[in-house]
Amino acid sequence: MRIQLNEEQRLLQDSVRRFAEGEVAPRAKAIDESGEFPRDFFRLAGELGLAGVAVPERWGGAGMDTVSYCLVIEAISRVCATSGVILSVNNSLVCDPILQFGNDAQKEEFLMPLAAGKILGCFALTEPGAGSDAAALRATATRDGDEYVLNGNKVFITNGTDADVALVFASVDPEKRHKGISAFLVPCDVPGFSRGGHEYKLGVNASGTTELAFSDCRVPERFRLGEEGEGFKIAMRTLDGGRIGIAAQAVGIAQSAFEEALHYAGEREQFGKPIASFQAIQFYLADMSTEIDAGRLLTWKAAWAKDTKKRYTLEAAQAKLFTSEMAQKVTNKALQIHGGYGYTKEYNVERYFRDARITEIYEGTSEIQKLVIAAAILDA
Ligand code: CAA
Repeated sequence: MRIQLNEEQRLLQDSVRRFAEGEVAPRAKAIDESGEFPRDFFRLAGELGLAGVAVPERWGGAGMDTVSYCLVIEAISRVCATSGVILSVNNSLVCDPILQFGNDAQKEEFLMPLAAGKILGCFALTEPGAGSDAAALRATATRDGDEYVLNGNKVFITNGTDADVALVFASVDPEKRHKGISAFLVPCDVPGFSRGGHEYKLGVNASGTTELAFSDCRVPERFRLGEEGEGFKIAMRTLDGGRIGIAAQAVGIAQSAFEEALHYAGEREQFGKPIASFQAIQFYLADMSTEIDAGRLLTWKAAWAKDTKKRYTLEAAQAKLFTSEMAQKVTNKALQIHGGYGYTKEYNVERYFRDARITEIYEGTSEIQKLVIAAAILDA
């Protein structure tokens, strides 16, 4: 067994780091403060092949593997977690299910422009009364000839303010719970589709989180992804992949917090010497670097498992659970090492600390990851 990136992955990592530092980092603080969705970032990322990293070139993507995808999300999130999640949602939660479950016509119409970054996608599962209990969703899809009529509301939709297409989960019969749910590709300009305002949040502030409403919104049957009633399994399998992206995001956030803490500890002097010479700080740094490495390896393991085409629900949930909790600890310690300065807007660590928090919540809370892990262990 060799844990080593191949040449193609190393080149990708270098070029994405350069792009992240040159184009993304300079605007990270400003978009965090303004909450303005960085549409031009997404367009540029698309031109570099980062909107559909693991989508085959035939369908407009970069044709790389899932480890490469993790390298991209980590490198972007290292400088700007908001930009990281925008890409992660487009790649994992929209491109990937179309690739897995879509027919050629759907791939042509939706996947090709999504993977090229020409249009932006969002994933509309969560509702006011259906968060962790996704099967309890109440949005309805009523068949009318060769169309479906969608009604209902979605909340906390990342990319929702700017998306061009939404992958929407709605039920032909909510009493059937998960067995009634179907998935639909809904262009965001269809009559009856509307969105709420920008949701101001603790972190990842410019990721376009909003509500979506569907009021007698008609979509043709050909926009249904997969079979009728298959929507819940499509959502779950999609989230398995999405959780790998969020794990990579958490590693990226933790990595930047660690690097800045290491730098600061070398410069900051107290009691006549750099604080890095005190064992208390050294122990913090040792724990941080060890935990980041462990999290990255779990993430790569899950990515590798996804590429084997076997079920990887367990590996993805373990990676997401561990890395999101690790990112809390690492960003907290980085802030502590910075002392009072770390609590100010002058330094980036307060942003990393805020951004890390969401990784324990979206794409399934830590508590849900534990349920998923326990179910997989007990099933095995
Ligand atoms: N892959 C394939 N099939 C799966 C699956 C998976 N990972 N997980 C469940 N299933 C199947 C089951 O096998 C079962 O199939 P049968 O009907 O054939 O038996 C069916 O789905 C129902 O499974 P459960 O009985 O386990 O379903 P449940 O209602 O108990 O829910 C849950 C399970 C794990 C709690 C699920 O509801 C869940 O993951 N909740 C969290 C939702 C979530 O992550 N939301 C995130 C929103 S998106 C987001 O956050 C995006 C963003 O902004 C960035």
